[in-house]
Amino acid sequence: MADRDELLDHDYDGIREYDNDLPRWWLNIFWLTTVFAICYAFYIHAGYSLTTDEKLAKGLAELEEMRVASAPAPADTQSDASPNDILLAIAGDDSRVSAGEKIYMTKCLACHGAKGEGTVGPNLTDDYWIHGGKITEIKQLVIEGVPAKGMLSWKNLMTPDEIDSVVAYIWNLHGTNPPNPKAPQGELLPRE
Ligand code: HEC
Repeated sequence: MADRDELLDHDYDGIREYDNDLPRWWLNIFWLTTVFAICYAFYIHAGYSLTTDEKLAKGLAELEEMRVASAPAPADTQSDASPNDILLAIAGDDSRVSAGEKIYMTKCLACHGAKGEGTVGPNLTDDYWIHGGKITEIKQLVIEGVPAKGMLSWKNLMTPDEIDSVVAYIWNLHGTNPPNPKAPQGELLPRE
């Protein structure tokens, strides 16, 4: 081992060098990386780890599993009916309409009349609507209400099914011409 800081004989265009020992810390890191490299090479090439292709296949399989697990139930995917069609179907279902009638008689009659002719609230049997006469608009109005005008918001007072039922009932009141109808309010929006 040469003494520290002893200049060697070569002279590269005026550049000269020592031949000191490498620092301990540097050597330790060198040996550590060497040992790691040997272990790693063994791990990769001796078949202990998955190949890149196998990792890809495994990752894709996991993704597919997650996709299948989070996909909506088949029943949901099959129904591509619009909210409008779904409500119209409920309005054509006698059991839902009579469920809606019961709700109407307890919750809506006071302001819209026993036959929907209107008292405090507007007539629900004519073609005039303040907030739109489409079945989805009627549902939205029942959900949100018009608190400033005295029409309650029913979203926290009825289940979604009950709301659909009472909307179905109202839909069927159309054109029933009850006696003592309240004067039309809103726009003339004849049903197509
Ligand atoms: C406390 C009185 C009151 C009760 C109870 C009430 N409504 Fe109303 N409703 C009103 C008033 C008032 C309006 C008119 C709001 C306006 O002028 O914007 C209205 C408007 C409506 C409209 C919109 C009419 C239009 O021309 O656009 C619908 C639909 C409706 N109510 C359905 C219902 C249903 C269904 C119930 C029962 C679940 C109900 N209402 C209970 C007072 C009431």
